[in-house]
Amino acid sequence: MYTMVAKDFLYRRSKLSFYSGTAKHTFLAVLLYASFGSVNCQSNQQNNLRGVYSWKALEFAFPSERAREAAISRGEFIPGSPLPIDMDVFYGGKRGPMVFLSIPRFQDGVPVTIGYVSNNVTRDGNPIIAPYPDWSWNRLGGCDAITSVYRIQVDACGRLWILDTGKLGDRQVCRPQILAFSLTSNRLLRRYRFPRDHFKDDSIYVTVIVDVRDPEGFCRDTFVYIADVTGFALIVYDMYNNQSWRIHNNLFYPYPQYGTFNIKDDSFDLMDGILGLALSPYKFNQDRILYFHSLASRVESWVPTSVIRNYTMFYDDPDASPRSFQAFDKERSSQSAAQAMDRNGVLFFGLLSDLAIGCWNSRDYSYGGDNIEKIAVNSETLQFPSGLKIITAKNGRQELWVVTVSFQKFMSGSLTPNETNFRIQAAYVDELVRGTKCDVASLGISNVVERPTTGGYGPILFTKIRPARYTFYIDHG
Ligand SMILES: *[C@@H]1O[C@H](CO)[C@@H](O)[C@H](O)[C@H]1NC(C)=O
Ligand SMILES: *[C@@H]1O[C@H](CO)[C@@H](O)[C@H](O)[C@H]1NC(C)=O
Ligand SMILES: *[C@@H]1O[C@H](CO)[C@@H](O)[C@H](O)[C@H]1NC(C)=O
Ligand SMILES: *[C@@H]1O[C@H](CO)[C@@H](O)[C@H](O)[C@H]1NC(C)=O
Repeated sequence: MYTMVAKDFLYRRSKLSFYSGTAKHTFLAVLLYASFGSVNCQSNQQNNLRGVYSWKALEFAFPSERAREAAISRGEFIPGSPLPIDMDVFYGGKRGPMVFLSIPRFQDGVPVTIGYVSNNVTRDGNPIIAPYPDWSWNRLGGCDAITSVYRIQVDACGRLWILDTGKLGDRQVCRPQILAFSLTSNRLLRRYRFPRDHFKDDSIYVTVIVDVRDPEGFCRDTFVYIADVTGFALIVYDMYNNQSWRIHNNLFYPYPQYGTFNIKDDSFDLMDGILGLALSPYKFNQDRILYFHSLASRVESWVPTSVIRNYTMFYDDPDASPRSFQAFDKERSSQSAAQAMDRNGVLFFGLLSDLAIGCWNSRDYSYGGDNIEKIAVNSETLQFPSGLKIITAKNGRQELWVVTVSFQKFMSGSLTPNETNFRIQAAYVDELVRGTKCDVASLGISNVVERPTTGGYGPILFTKIRPARYTFYIDHG
């Protein structure tokens, strides 16, 4: 995804110059708007997500000012160039929560591809990003390091999974790889380089989602599902058996009628396939559903994970079991990038043209149409939700986190480092969905948690969570 850069960015830019006139108007409108304060008074624009961090441009924790200047003069850092794509949060750290950011190297000048937000801020208010786990892992020019990361995931076992495309711009300089780090020791737990026949020249391993089958156990029974957005494939990595396989299906392709993106006053074309992945809740001894969609589409699809976890089925035949993958009949109102599902089976996703976050209650409603609610809308702060995660805090309450990146401005060449371009926002899930079809509490199921011990295919038992005292990270900053 977001891959056009090296190949035909210039071409697209010239095509897009048509829109720059309107972009200027927008910019002016934004300035006027900002001068009235940041509270949005339009009734159809409600965003209850709270700002956690925002950036005009990304800045990094270089060891010294001299090291920063040297990186700039070598072209390793081009201020204003790095664009974050995904984020995740780890609440289990000794020194408080860690917010991770992934910054792919689809363009030059990105000194850090995987980092976390430090407590330090530049003079003009940009939170400084420190490399994770350190600078040596983020250095350029070696396949032992990490080359380029679009998306990441922190799992239930305190591990950070990093999906590395192995590409610099368009060039496949290393094989794609998946790495898991322990977030308690910051040590590498697992590295797996994908075999040559698992990727094509134009593959980009863009999204990772982790299915821990034994979160109460040793965390070894773990499967990782990966979207190859431009190779139109799903890759499965089985951690226990340390092997992977590739899956093809028609539903992984872009839908040409949705290959044009209209976001605010910008417009661009992008024929990206499978990108958004989300897993249904974990139920002991039961199947989980993988939901997925292509970026250039309004269609949501799904497949039981028992199908895609079956190595023998796909090992020799990536096209096996085509009818196990199904698309919902009804569509959503717009294209979507990232998505995530909470433990109640409510799916959350960005709606790109609507400048909104949508939700769908998979337990009680069929997908699409009126059953999709917009729980947050804001034309300024919800431009291109690129990464979206449901985080469970230590007391069990769930939070929705999102990183928005004004990607359409990047595509049209109108991204300027003198306005806020990147935002991390968050809110409690129960507050966001209140009174909507996604509010499972209003449907008589209050704050459900599953008891894995009930197991089997029998009825699922729910217990109520006692309200807990809680220190909340979101208000920070
Ligand atoms: C933040 O700034 C302090 C004081 O300058 C410095 O000691 C520390 O290393 C910085 N932290 C990071 C992550 O750069
Ligand atoms: C996993 O398999 C790869 C080769 O496919 C090998 O290089 C690596 O060492 C294996 N890792 C473990 C933990 O067995
Ligand atoms: C995996 O697929 C094979 C071949 O289609 C089938 O025979 C087998 O029953 C499947 N295994 C499981 C656990 O579903
Ligand atoms: C921001 O930068 C752009 C391009 O460099 C410039 O046209 C615009 O006037 C600037 N806006 C502000 C508020 O400085």
